[in-house]
Amino acid sequence: MNNVIIYGAYGYTGRLIVERAVELGWTPTLAGRNLSLVKTLAEKYNLPFVSFEFDDKRSWDNALKDKDLLLNCAGPFSITIRDILPACIRNNTHYCDITGEIEVFEYIQGNDQKAKDAGIVMLPGVGFDVVPTDCLSLFLKEQLPTATHLELAFESNSGLSRGTAFSVLNRFHKGSAIRENRVIKEMAAASSNKLLPFNGKMKNAVGIAWGDVFTSFYTTGIPNIQVYTAMPEKTMNIMRKAGKWSWLIKTKLVQKMGRRIINKRIKGPGAEKRDSLMAHLYGKVWDDNGNVVEASLNTLESYKLTSITALICAEKILKGEASAGYNTPAGAFGSELIMEVEGSTRQLLD
Ligand SMILES: NC(=O)c1ccc[n+]([C@@H]2O[C@H](COP(=O)([O-])OP(=O)(O)OC[C@H]3O[C@@H](n4cnc5c(N)ncnc54)[C@H](OP(=O)(O)O)[C@@H]3O)[C@@H](O)[C@H]2O)c1
Repeated sequence: MNNVIIYGAYGYTGRLIVERAVELGWTPTLAGRNLSLVKTLAEKYNLPFVSFEFDDKRSWDNALKDKDLLLNCAGPFSITIRDILPACIRNNTHYCDITGEIEVFEYIQGNDQKAKDAGIVMLPGVGFDVVPTDCLSLFLKEQLPTATHLELAFESNSGLSRGTAFSVLNRFHKGSAIRENRVIKEMAAASSNKLLPFNGKMKNAVGIAWGDVFTSFYTTGIPNIQVYTAMPEKTMNIMRKAGKWSWLIKTKLVQKMGRRIINKRIKGPGAEKRDSLMAHLYGKVWDDNGNVVEASLNTLESYKLTSITALICAEKILKGEASAGYNTPAGAFGSELIMEVEGSTRQLLD
């Protein structure tokens, strides 16, 4: 796969993706705004590279004119997407990314017709957020086609990478989100919680604004969706308290201070954690007649999984397996997509 460009290539997750792409024999062009970092990474793997800012229209046109697909790893995506997606549409270049941000999915879906006109596939969310949960949603919907409600949950003990922490900080003031009767509603941070089973153990789980609140609706058509993550009660209580200060947290000063702390302290999980941890997912659907189906899914550590699913999805797009316009991972490739990743196990629960 030579005609691929990876933007944000030298970030934590970008590097994992580049490393895997090279293992698979791909020769992508590496891109990012910091020339020295992108050059060093490209030289390590003997790959072509290019450096420019995310809002540099002319450089995007030069970089994309002979490329079939962009894999965007430069998040928070809410900051970069309004420049990057139009560049792909202008240059007829397929687009995929590793976002999990609801407003980014919304923006991309809003460009559905433009992408169809340009003949390009847009597939955001090809990482841990949302591939495994999206596949679990579709699997559950296939078991219960009359489902009206979907509950998803995950447990990932990896900790955060720098970019994920930035994304959390960037949208913390918006709180949580659910989908009710097709409409997305914002809720206070950590305002809902319940006990849910993760790998057979009941744990406290908190409602969050995970990408599936947007995407699962497009994959399954289910109009009511909530996503939870396993979280100790202590952390949940801190989030609830912090939620009351969201007006302060969104100020430029606090955002700047937060970014500085994240830059200093957050590095992302090391290789040992990525290779030893597993992510545990749970899903439930029900309908108005009292029918209920539950399932669990265990899969690889979230960042390792992201590097694998991102490239599986990119390859499938390049092979022409997705249609032009906005797609979700399972919507494009089916509920079995996650089972293509070695180590994934899925089970219907009684
Ligand atoms: N879907 C998933 O499951 C999943 C998994 C992993 C990560 N993510 C998301 O992916 C994003 C990256 O995460 P990460 O941990 O790899 O972060 P990271 O280590 O901070 O890397 C981010 C990369 O994007 C670049 N970037 C960020 N803002 C940019 C901007 N305004 N203009 C140009 N380049 C910019 C960075 O370049 P500079 O260093 O020059 O700023 C860096 O190369 C985050 O939004 C994270 O939430 C999602």
